[in-house]
Amino acid sequence: MSARTISPNMALDQLVAERRARGEDILHLGFGESRLPVFPALVERLTAGARRSAYGPVVGDLGARQAVAGWFARRRLPTDPAQIVLAPGSKPLLMALQMAVPGDVVLPRPAWNTYAPQATAMGKRVYRLAVPDDCGGVPRPRLLRRVVQQARAAGGDPRIVVLTLPDNPTGTHAPPALIRELCAIARELDLLIVSDEIYRDVLHDPDAPFLSPAEVAPERTVVTTGLSKNLALGGWRVGAARFPEGALGEEMCAAVASVASEVWSNLAGPMQEVAAYAFAEPAELSAHIARSTRLHATVAHAVYELLTAAGVSCRRPTGAFYLYPDMEAARQALAWLGVQDSASLEHRFLEHAKVAVLGGHHLGDRPHALRFRIATCQLYGATDELQQQALDAADPLRLPHVSRALSRIEESLVKLFH
Ligand SMILES: Cc1ncc(COP(=O)(O)O)c(C=O)c1O
Repeated sequence: MSARTISPNMALDQLVAERRARGEDILHLGFGESRLPVFPALVERLTAGARRSAYGPVVGDLGARQAVAGWFARRRLPTDPAQIVLAPGSKPLLMALQMAVPGDVVLPRPAWNTYAPQATAMGKRVYRLAVPDDCGGVPRPRLLRRVVQQARAAGGDPRIVVLTLPDNPTGTHAPPALIRELCAIARELDLLIVSDEIYRDVLHDPDAPFLSPAEVAPERTVVTTGLSKNLALGGWRVGAARFPEGALGEEMCAAVASVASEVWSNLAGPMQEVAAYAFAEPAELSAHIARSTRLHATVAHAVYELLTAAGVSCRRPTGAFYLYPDMEAARQALAWLGVQDSASLEHRFLEHAKVAVLGGHHLGDRPHALRFRIATCQLYGATDELQQQALDAADPLRLPHVSRALSRIEESLVKLFH
């Protein structure tokens, strides 16, 4: 992390905003922000909390932590509120963990663009491991054993493995058998698992089997989550971490709280009110999340079908609102146009097709690969009204603004070559 660079997805978002302000018509698929109107009851809770101007406890109010503990308990993870820390987003909690826990870090390749800069900012080495062919968010288990053993033999100190379940950027989630295998190896190698489950409620099939590593290796798994994705509240900044029971968990929780006390002090007072309501999952809010997730799934699958019909290979999405296409099959044709890697591919998409995508190199992928991330959550419309229509529609794909955006993706694949 350099003092002068900002996170690549945020930099791209700003660039698109600037170019749009100058009149350019850009289809923005580069930023993973769920664009949906705020659910009205959340606005009521925020307003009700407006007078909560005192600092409050570093780890969060007991009421809000009780709600988060209940949220985990309903996901087969019985939790005491003392195991929870709330913060302004899960990003600072992930950073605090990197500060609090010694040792180097193992990341899947590709992985969300923030993990590596956070680790390197703390002077840690990052080991990147390929993900399985059918899903992302987890390194290939056997590779994990080999790479960790080799790294240790060479003087490295890998002690943390970060998983993303469901995954950004591949839009998939790892099956339970893989999680079990991975947990067994983490235990054998004495690795701490950081399981980023911020997309936990954005599983396309709510009945799809989902296993948290915290169910399998509870003594060594920290889970992070938040309200940015399931409720489209990124700008409100509400995140939470669940620490393991027992001495190790208590030690990490205290270390993260210590960082919190020196950096952000506490989650903002009004947001404690929001967190207490949202994590308690009242029926009307669960229905809203289910509707949002149906929309995310429908649009992600439509784009997946469109890409694969055009010959672009891609993992079939099962969660979150991303796709991670690979244009290796078109390497020769792209090479004629000067596109040799994901940076030049990202550039060509923006300049020739007026579509913003995030090149795989920003996500730790091999720069030479022709892979990139598409955030399909940007296709629901630019205004609250259009987004609400998308949310309410029986078939959002038939709405003119959504179907136009999908056609534009199809056209962009043609324009890329002209
Ligand atoms: C995998 C992943 N983890 C964490 C975050 C950050 O979330 P928060 O808004 O809670 O800081 C994001 C946001 O893009 C993400 O994609």
